[in-house]
Amino acid sequence: MEFDLIVKNGVIVTASEVLPEGLEIGVKDGKITCIGTGLPSTHNTKIIDAEGAYITPGGVDSHVHLAQANSPTGDGWETGSRSAIAGGTTTIIAFASQEREDTSLYPVLKDYHATAKDQSYCDYGFHFILTNPTPEILHDELPVMAEKEGITSVKLYMTYDALKVNDREVLNILFACKALGMTTMIHAESHDMIAFIIDGLERNKYTEPYFHAIARPRIAEDEASYRAISLAELADAPMLIVHMSSDVAVNHVRDAQTRLLPIHAETCPHYLFLLSEKLKAEPHDHFSGAKHVCSPPLRHDPKDLEGLWQSIANGTFTTFSSDHAPSKYDHTGGKKLGLVDGIPRFANIPNGLPGIETRMALLFGQTPACQPLEKARLSLPRFVQLTATNPAKLYGLSGVKGSIAPGYDADLVIWHPKAAGACTISQSMLHHDMDYTPFEGVEVGNWPRFTVLRGQVAWSQAEGVVGSLQAGKFLMRGRGEVVGGRVGGVPRGMGVEERAYWL
Ligand code: URP
Ligand code: ZN
Ligand code: ZN
Ligand code: ZN
Repeated sequence: MEFDLIVKNGVIVTASEVLPEGLEIGVKDGKITCIGTGLPSTHNTKIIDAEGAYITPGGVDSHVHLAQANSPTGDGWETGSRSAIAGGTTTIIAFASQEREDTSLYPVLKDYHATAKDQSYCDYGFHFILTNPTPEILHDELPVMAEKEGITSVKLYMTYDALKVNDREVLNILFACKALGMTTMIHAESHDMIAFIIDGLERNKYTEPYFHAIARPRIAEDEASYRAISLAELADAPMLIVHMSSDVAVNHVRDAQTRLLPIHAETCPHYLFLLSEKLKAEPHDHFSGAKHVCSPPLRHDPKDLEGLWQSIANGTFTTFSSDHAPSKYDHTGGKKLGLVDGIPRFANIPNGLPGIETRMALLFGQTPACQPLEKARLSLPRFVQLTATNPAKLYGLSGVKGSIAPGYDADLVIWHPKAAGACTISQSMLHHDMDYTPFEGVEVGNWPRFTVLRGQVAWSQAEGVVGSLQAGKFLMRGRGEVVGGRVGGVPRGMGVEERAYWL
């Protein structure tokens, strides 16, 4: 066998272990074909000497918003995928978003394919956002999407006027997706609680960015998460609650998992590193809090942050995604979205933060590779599970993405924490098309030295982005593997016969 690439002398980390030092990864035609020692090379073989480095699977970021019509100043495919690759992410799953008036998903998918094709530095797939789940869409179109178009997951919103579906619609979707082996993602916040509070804040003229965090209290996430879990339990369907920010809501997930329900949870870097104080005005800019407006909001209490870190370490969270959903702060020379006639109006500030590039390094920095053991927040295998292996499994990319093993795509991140040391995040080092990062000044333990996409170096810390804009391929995804939990139970307090009456 002649290899195209051999990565030597590094320490390979998988979802289950840190392998012994000195193993070599042999790559042929973009795939890992062999892991061993003394692999033969010829003058055609590229060698990466990873002496002293850790090698982890290329990141799989399963929650990314690019080129969505509802964020006119957001990131596009070129800049968003460039930013991904520069931060160690080789696969992204972005959203193809149905608008309410769309009565078919086919044109939606066609549009999103057109924006992404030949415009991505990394591999990509789509989840549908469903806002109008008609019977035709659920029963005629989704089966085709799952079987022929490689789209095996949907996201629903319990809040936002333009996106929200009601509980009955959630159930319809859960039942339809379960039958197809699709994963349902859900944004769980109580719409009416939030709308009620916003009315009161506006009446009392509390409209500065900070009041965004007051308007969406933990109880709103807590209630909606529990309701979403109950709906999934009634349907006996797998579900992932996206971007969880509060320890209270996560406890409902933990409880459901203890009962072996197939309930999953995702959190994001901003909920682990930032608190709502970021929404307060800075002395030099009274509107700066707008840079930290996301939903659910950053929380007030450091205890939330601690609780989330525990759920990172103990297995409650299945995935760790960026929810890269940015809008420019100052989008046309002083025109700031949410500043209405000079008056801050938090309800008009677009929701969502940039974070596709900083996700991997922020979490890697909390492993024993970068921290003394007693300070580390999670193990290296847990880092790999959260950032690559689990999202690949959950979203139907098992056997292709998210692992360093023969037969998998040769997507790798090479880290040199000992040689290169820490790095401080700043807007000037990033590759997105945004004018800020919410992580400005945050120190991370290390930054990827190389990102390898299917055997090709796509990012090198010395040379920058060296991959090609046409390199990214659309991924036809299969059925999700339910990571932990089981399907095939009856809802709590209900017998099989009772369920048979209505099923
Ligand atoms: O604030 C957020 N997360 N906005 C982006 C859209 C979403 O809800 O994921
Ligand atoms: Zn959301
Ligand atoms: Zn001032
Ligand atoms: Zn999102």
